[in-house]
Amino acid sequence: MAESMSGFTRSHRCTEVTNEQIGESVVLMGWVNKRRNLGSLIFVDLRDRSGLMQLLFDENNIGEEGYKKAQTLRNEFVIAIRGLVQKREGAINENLKTGDIEIKVLELRILSEALTPPFHIEEDSQTKDELRLKYRYLDLRRPDIQKNIIFRSKVAKSIRDFMYEEGFIEIETPMLCKSTPEGARDYLVPSRVHPGNFYALPQSPQLFKQLLMCAGYDRYFQLAKCFRDEDLRADRQPEFTQVDMEFSFVDQDEVMDVNERLLAHIFKECLGHEVQLPIPRMLWQEAMDRYGSDKPDTRFGMELVDITESVKNCGFGVFSNPAQTQGSSVRGINAKGMVEMPRKKIDALVEFAKGYGAKGLAYLGINQDGSYKSSFAKFMTEEELQAIVEEMNAEPGDLMFFAADTNKIVWSVLGALRLELGEQMGLIDHSKFNFLWVVEFPLFEYSDEQERWVSMHHPFTMPMDEDIKYLDSEPWKARAKAYDIVLNGVELGGGSERIYDPEIQEKMFEALGFTKEEANERFGFLIDAFKYGVPPHAGLAYGLDRLVMLMLGCESIRDVIAFPKVKDASDLMTGAPGPVDEKQLEELEIALDLTEQPEE
Ligand code: AMO
Ligand code: AMP
Repeated sequence: MAESMSGFTRSHRCTEVTNEQIGESVVLMGWVNKRRNLGSLIFVDLRDRSGLMQLLFDENNIGEEGYKKAQTLRNEFVIAIRGLVQKREGAINENLKTGDIEIKVLELRILSEALTPPFHIEEDSQTKDELRLKYRYLDLRRPDIQKNIIFRSKVAKSIRDFMYEEGFIEIETPMLCKSTPEGARDYLVPSRVHPGNFYALPQSPQLFKQLLMCAGYDRYFQLAKCFRDEDLRADRQPEFTQVDMEFSFVDQDEVMDVNERLLAHIFKECLGHEVQLPIPRMLWQEAMDRYGSDKPDTRFGMELVDITESVKNCGFGVFSNPAQTQGSSVRGINAKGMVEMPRKKIDALVEFAKGYGAKGLAYLGINQDGSYKSSFAKFMTEEELQAIVEEMNAEPGDLMFFAADTNKIVWSVLGALRLELGEQMGLIDHSKFNFLWVVEFPLFEYSDEQERWVSMHHPFTMPMDEDIKYLDSEPWKARAKAYDIVLNGVELGGGSERIYDPEIQEKMFEALGFTKEEANERFGFLIDAFKYGVPPHAGLAYGLDRLVMLMLGCESIRDVIAFPKVKDASDLMTGAPGPVDEKQLEELEIALDLTEQPEE
């Protein structure tokens, strides 16, 4: 039976007790991490969120009854003890913060007993993710996860401190919204009062923060929950947190300046790391050309090389055809010193490339004796091969890979291959934090799925002044006053200057194929608001989960979210999403028609 805590007041967390308290009485509370029974002595490691403290139970100190009670202790029991701090009699544990002291227990209360947990509560658990997430409340007891969650709180505080200091006001925006235009699928919430109508959970506070600028709040920020019904990845969750901000009367340089200082502040305060300012900037076009990615990992080289010109007239159709086609190209990367790569591994890379849309992946290696190891050398003359070798800056020992296709596919394939090879070849220095601004994004991208131009960022992004003229006729040429902040190849955040001129906004909607009515239906409240005096404004949002993940060097944002979801967007612990009562559906006037649900 659970004993009461009464008369006990916790005096310290485990690792708050130090050498200086030797001889003093303390009261500690926590979980039994481990128990060792040495016959006449029992040692218990007591755990709380601060760490471990060794407890010593000796019948001479605690009495017969107390000692008997101590014998019943099992892992994860919750206990309270009163005792004296003493120097350790046994071996000093160098690995523990409290390794040279222990508590001689005089009184023990068992506050809660515990079943044997389904896995051991320990650092670097080898337990399967599924089991850990089903029992997340136990998983969260593990010291490494606790460290992450506590660190996240420190980052959040550090952000708040900086933002308040810089004159930002923290304002909450609604969760029950109209659909926002970020482009992912919405999570919908049915309305009981308005049957047949739905709220959307916010994909971001985008429209609300712009309205706050209209309302004169000038500098807003929020740690905002956002919801997007997308396919999950290591750095994507259906619900995640943004550090969201908006400024009035600024241009993009000022937004970037504040954010560079914010990042420097967070990294200094939470990690003691100096971020080198200013953070370098790269044009989107250059990022694509050099890295095949709009979020380049600049911790290593192996950049893309465009060989389109030199293969235009070669005898290998796989190369010459795209080389002669507008919007297509042939590009390669050079894996230095990798010519010995076994055929099986090369085949695996070809398959990898196909996963990114490639029709094939051509390779050309130069053996030490100067001969070629290649999938296409036989289709080319020696001169044609030499031209490629020269352009690729290749020498004996190197292995080059080439993609020939539309630029979009070539970038996607080689961008991904570069990262894969960089990892395989050990080229990435994981102790580095490489920040990069990517700027001058295209305003639009073509959606094959929707067969129309869509906003690359969102429809309120300001075109570059000199590109406004392209909106009517050649939208693909227009660049945006948009910027992304990239860290180690991960998109950490993004933002833009916003359109505040109704005429430009109208052109934008036209270019996107919205009729006036459609635009009014979706964003009428914003369009109307802008008729009543709107300041020039700009903003940015970070993924807080991604930021914390990168700061801690974690593999997945799941490791820095207390209660994350798994790949199919379900919560293994609560079982959400789940069916609801017939009565609830009736109230919402919703009838399920699952038989007609399209098959997966
Ligand atoms: P954007 O859509 O680029 O911009 O989102 C901003 C940042 O949010 C993070 N993020 C995610 N993190 C985890 N899981 C997800 N599913 C997920 N989706 C996005 C990323 C991303 O860079 N309203 C604009 C910002 C602005 O213009 O001010 C916006 O939402 O780190
Ligand atoms: P094939 O003539 O189809 O056997 O192709 C010869 C080589 O070119 C093989 O190594 C293919 O993987 C490669 N290849 C085929 N299509 C492409 C492409 N679009 N880009 C790069 N390499 C390709």
